[in-house]
Order: sequence, then structure tokens, then C-alpha cells
Amino acid sequence: MPASPPDPVLTVQGLHITVDHGRTEAVRDVSFTVRAGQAVGLVGESGSGKTLTCRSVLGALPPGCAVSAGTATLAGGDPDAGAADATELTALDRRGWERLRGVRLGAVFQDPASYLNPSLTVGRQLAEPLRVRQGLSRADAHRRAVELFTAVGLHQPEQVYHRYPHELSGGMLQRVLIAVAVAGDPELLVADEATTALDTVVQAEVLDLLGRLRAERGLALLLVSHDLAVVAEVCDRIVVLYAGEVVEDGPTDEVLAAPAHPYTEALLRVASIGDWSRRELAVIPGRPPEAGRTPAGCRFADRCAHALPDCGRQQIELRPVGDARSSRCLRAGELHLTGTALQEVNA
Ligand SMILES: Nc1ncnc2c1ncn2[C@@H]1O[C@H](COP(=O)(O)OP(=O)(O)O)[C@@H](O)[C@H]1O
Ligand SMILES: [Mg+2]
Repeated sequence: MPASPPDPVLTVQGLHITVDHGRTEAVRDVSFTVRAGQAVGLVGESGSGKTLTCRSVLGALPPGCAVSAGTATLAGGDPDAGAADATELTALDRRGWERLRGVRLGAVFQDPASYLNPSLTVGRQLAEPLRVRQGLSRADAHRRAVELFTAVGLHQPEQVYHRYPHELSGGMLQRVLIAVAVAGDPELLVADEATTALDTVVQAEVLDLLGRLRAERGLALLLVSHDLAVVAEVCDRIVVLYAGEVVEDGPTDEVLAAPAHPYTEALLRVASIGDWSRRELAVIPGRPPEAGRTPAGCRFADRCAHALPDCGRQQIELRPVGDARSSRCLRAGELHLTGTALQEVNA
């Protein structure tokens, strides 16, 4: 018998998110599960709904945006809120979020500098929450902060402790933010384009670090990137978003070897272009429909090389394709789409 999969940490089910004060639906019917120790990658062009999805899980949607349907459930209860075995994130109040964020949920974003206070040393910004949240003495919080800086691969951590944000490089700042995010020993870390602003060498180091933290701490990771190669390197499973919908979902190696949706195939073609600077999705002709102006049928149909007249007529459901995989393509069963070997993507 195959080993049973690890327990779910985060279960997102039928999530819809509106923007413009409910006038426009930007995310439609998104579902996925992140299990303990697993890394799930959300991938898709800019504007596909990756950030809104992440922010809804972190209780940090921008003003005017809201979850209009669906659930996002964190396994394990919040005894202070009287919830026994699961925490429904879409129903949390401000105090509920304060108990979760930075404790059970950690987050890192693209622009680390904007999440740090420019007038405090980075060491204090890590040590203060350790004192407050974990009740450590000043000396213990300092010691723990230096340990965490070491764990995230910062050299000379004691010196780094006394630096201000402007004195550190982008890669170092991102490591500081990762240290802050994992300081409370969270169950889930959400990383939204966390390596996008970094140069390729530093990007690879930070991705390595995330992989290591996951292995060492059993951390569940929700990794977001517009770059499929980044997701392919770290994630066990890939969830492909297009114009606010999941178009394909499955184990990374299977999706890469034989994509089940033409949009994934197109993304793979882009990702396998060797020159990183030329990895632009503009290589797929056309543009995704704007939120609120989506067609009745398949949202990718007018850019799709395999589209038939039927594709544009009816709403296409996400359907299982084999074990633990699904695709929102009418032709998923009959098309033999071109995959890419992992090594090629990451070469
Ligand atoms: N604060 C906002 N107000 C209005 N529309 C928004 C806001 N944030 C995102 N959107 C819209 O929602 C869609 C998804 O955005 P986002 O989740 O940021 O995409 P991604 O992270 O995949 O690039 C886009 O069409 C975007 O214009
Ligand atoms: Mg984004």
C-alpha cells in the first residue's frame, strides 16, 4: 500500500475574491491543499490572481477586495477562539489574525525593505517580537536572533544584527525577512515573488534556503511566482492560475513532463528559454482577459493553439486527469502536449 500523504496544513476550497468593492470578480473557484512539509507553487502571468489568493490566506487583502465565497482552512484549532480542530481563515476577526500572523503563519514578499523599519537595526526587529511573543529575556532574544540569522545563511550574524536595513543588500534583507517569518516556528510560510527582485545567483540561494527550512522544520510552503522555473525548482505540486482560475493542478514532475492544459504548455515553453532576461510571457501571443471581462467559455481559448469552437461556448470545469491531477481543458484527454525535463527548466 502506498504511504498515506502528510496531513493538510492549509485547505483552500472554492475561493472567490472580488475587487472594486464587490463589483469585479478577480479570483474564481480556486481550490488547493498544502500538506505538512510540502511546497505548493502558484504560478501564472501577472494579474492571474496569485497575490490576491495569498493575501486572503494571510488576512491581508487590499482595501476594496474581499473573499466573496469559499473557505481557507488552517488545520489545528485556535483554543483562544474556542475552535477545536481547524481555523477558518476567511472568518477570523482582527484579534484572531493577531494570534496567527507571525506565529502560525509566516510571510515573505518581493520587496523586503518595505516590511522593515528603516530606523531600527534588523537585529532588534527580529529580537523584539521574540521578547514579546515568546517571553524571552533581552539576552535570550538576542542570542535566538543571532541563531536565526545563522540558520538563514547570513554570514557574521552578530555584525548583521547591528545593521540598519539600508546597510544590507536585497538578498540579505530577504534572508532577514525569512528569519522574521520563521521565528515563531510557523506551520505555513507564504512566499509571494520572494526572489523576483534578486539577481539569479542570490535567487538560487534563497530558494535553496526555503527548501532547507521546509525539510528541517516540516514547514508547509506556499510559493508564488510568475516564473515556472522558480516553482519547478522548489515545489512538489504546481497550481497554474490563468485569469483568476486554476487551469491545471498536479505533482510538479508530472505537470512538467506532460502538461494537461495548453496554457501550462505555453508557460513551459517560455520557462525553457535559456536566456533568463528574455523569459517574458509576451512570447505567448495575445493577452489574458481583464477581470470582469472574462468570456463565457474557456478564458484561454483566444490564445490557445488547440482551441475548438466548443471551447468558447461553455464554462469549462476543472476535471480530474489521472491520479491527483486536474485540468480545466475540454480536450485534456485527447491532446498530447509538450513537456520539458526539469533539468532543462533549471539549466
Ligand atoms: N487592490 C486592488 N484593487 C483592484 N483590483 C485589484 C487589486 N489587486 C489586484 N487586483 C486585480 O486582481 C487581479 C489579480 O491580481 P493579483 O492577485 O495581484 O495578480 P498576480 O499576483 O497574479 O499578478 C488583477 O486583475 C488585478 O488588476
Ligand atoms: Mg502578484
